[in-house]
Amino acid sequence: MASNRSLLVLPGDGIGAEAMAEIRRVIGWLETNRSLSFDLDEDLVGGCSIDAHGVPVTDAVMDKAMAVDAVLLGAVGGPKWDDVDFSIRPEQGLLRLRKEMELFANLRPAVCFEALADASSLKRDVVAGLDIMIVRELTGGVYFGEPRGITDLPDGQRQGVNTQVYTTEEIRRVCRVAFDIAKARDSRVTSAEKANVMESGILWREEAQWVHDNEYQDVELSHMYADNCAMQLVRWPKQFDVIVTDNLFGDILSDAAAMLTGSLGMLPSASLGGTDENGKRKAMYEPVHGSAPDIAGQNKANPIASIMSFAMALRYSFDLGDEADLVEKAVENVLASGYRTGDIMQPGMTDVSTTGMGDAILAALDNLAA
Ligand code: IPM
Ligand code: MG
Repeated sequence: MASNRSLLVLPGDGIGAEAMAEIRRVIGWLETNRSLSFDLDEDLVGGCSIDAHGVPVTDAVMDKAMAVDAVLLGAVGGPKWDDVDFSIRPEQGLLRLRKEMELFANLRPAVCFEALADASSLKRDVVAGLDIMIVRELTGGVYFGEPRGITDLPDGQRQGVNTQVYTTEEIRRVCRVAFDIAKARDSRVTSAEKANVMESGILWREEAQWVHDNEYQDVELSHMYADNCAMQLVRWPKQFDVIVTDNLFGDILSDAAAMLTGSLGMLPSASLGGTDENGKRKAMYEPVHGSAPDIAGQNKANPIASIMSFAMALRYSFDLGDEADLVEKAVENVLASGYRTGDIMQPGMTDVSTTGMGDAILAALDNLAA
């Protein structure tokens, strides 16, 4: 029987395939134990697509991505493709998916599980109980702005140009997502930009304030310069509830936030588009970590960021909040029982492989369901 829940799995490169294999096992568990069904298709993105087709994502894969309820992406890139032309780098596949699917809101929750409070490079009391959400604008700013490029100057030098550009509506729509999320949390949004240096930052600040004053007066809004925000994230991250920021600052701030949780291997993300007339929104889910070529294929990668990304898919694309809670609880229990992949390993804990972590999470799901 055809399911009405369609997923396109794009494992990509490096550890992407190993991590996605563990998601498939969780999907299998839900199908068996929760009578849910998913239609899964799988295809190439990134370096493996360059090898097979000469481009990091094909038009055919783009068509599939546009048609499904959700895309699950692993990771892209690796040293093998360091020398390919910039225009077809593996990362361009990811950027094309984000841009053409119009996934303008990237949700990066940084949650520190109690069991990992000592795995962070920061002191326990700084990170214990941390639960913040970074909302990163994903389809605008300096990542896509024109003009861009490298040109030769008359005096023999070269000049590299990228353009930071934002329009009113680009800023307002991502701020609305941040305010909506804040309403279901602690109702506080911090908007981060560089209004002291950049005109685009002044506009960002004014538009964020406009959305607040006109649509979300019940949510508290504060403004912060992005450099100060980076500092505050490592000084006292629990002061934040939701942070909304542009594409480039969000890229940087979310990597910093990831380390608060113990490891980049822990951080999931959801990239969401606008809602259409049927209330549906395009979406892609991916771990924040990269392809980790140094450990790829060795069954060492931490699959938790990927599995937690799938939990976000359950929540945001399929309205399966209970199942999302269940998967997140299983991960929490596994960590509390002391299972650790190498990236979060600590003295006295049980060192497990990628598949070993998957086994433990399935067992925890069994226990929760029993
Ligand atoms: C991320 C990554 C990407 C980005 C790269 C792989 C293009 O760092 O998702 O944070 O810069 O957005
Ligand atoms: Mg990044």
